[in-house]
Amino acid sequence: MFLAELPLYKKLSGKRSRVLAEAVLPLLPENGSILDFGCGNMFTAKHLIDLNPNLKITGMDVIEDQNLDKKILDHPALSFKQINSREIPFHDHTFDTTMVISTLHHTPEPEYYIQELKRVTKPGGNLIVVEEMYLNTVDKIWTSGQDWVLNKMKKGVPVPLNFRPYRHYLQVFRDQHLTIRKETFIRMPITLMHHYIFQLQVPQV
Ligand SMILES: C[S@@+](CC[C@H](N)C(=O)[O-])C[C@H]1O[C@@H](n2cnc3c(N)ncnc32)[C@H](O)[C@@H]1O
Repeated sequence: MFLAELPLYKKLSGKRSRVLAEAVLPLLPENGSILDFGCGNMFTAKHLIDLNPNLKITGMDVIEDQNLDKKILDHPALSFKQINSREIPFHDHTFDTTMVISTLHHTPEPEYYIQELKRVTKPGGNLIVVEEMYLNTVDKIWTSGQDWVLNKMKKGVPVPLNFRPYRHYLQVFRDQHLTIRKETFIRMPITLMHHYIFQLQVPQV
C-alpha cells in the first residue's frame, strides 16, 4: 500500500497543486497549448484549467501516476501521453508554452530536458521552470532527503535526485539563450521546500 493512495495524501497533494497553479497561472498565456512535462497526477494541470478554461494542457510523464484518474482525463482540455523515449516525442515548435514542475531533478539529465523543452516550444513562447535548486551542501542534503521520502510514497516514480545548484541553472539558461522574463519562488506548505520559478522566453528564430 502506497501512502499516495490515502485520501489525506490526495487532499494535501491537491492543496500543493493549488499553490503551484496560482503561482504559475500569471506566467501562462491567456489561451493556447501547454505541455506539462513530468505532470504526475495532473492535479496542477486540473487547477490551471479550472482557473483558465481557455488553456489546453498535454501532460507527459514516464509513468501514469496512480492518482491520475479518468475523471481528470475526461476533461476536454486535458490529455496525457506517456513518454517511452529519451527525446520528447513532439515536433519542433509544437507548444505555445512548456512547463516542467518539480521534475528536472528526477530526469537523468536536467540540462538535456531544458534543451528538449526549448525545442518543442514555439519561438518567442515561454518555458516555465519550477525547480528545487540548492544553494549549498546542507541545502542539497535537506532537499534530497525530503524529496526522496516524498516520492517513495508514490508508486514507481524514478528518484535519481539530480538536483543542481541555482547558479548552475542560471548558466544553463544563458547557454540555451533563454531570457529570464520573470523569476520568483514559493515555499511549499508543510515541507517548506523552496521552489524557484522561472519564466524563460525561447528565442525568436
Ligand atoms: C515530483 S513529481 C512532480 C509531478 C508534478 N509535476 C507535480 O508537481 O505535481 C516528478 C515527476 O517526474 C516524472 N519523471 C521522472 N523522470 C521523468 C522523465 N525522464 N521524463 C518525464 N517525466 C519524468 C515522475 O514520474 C514524476 O511524476
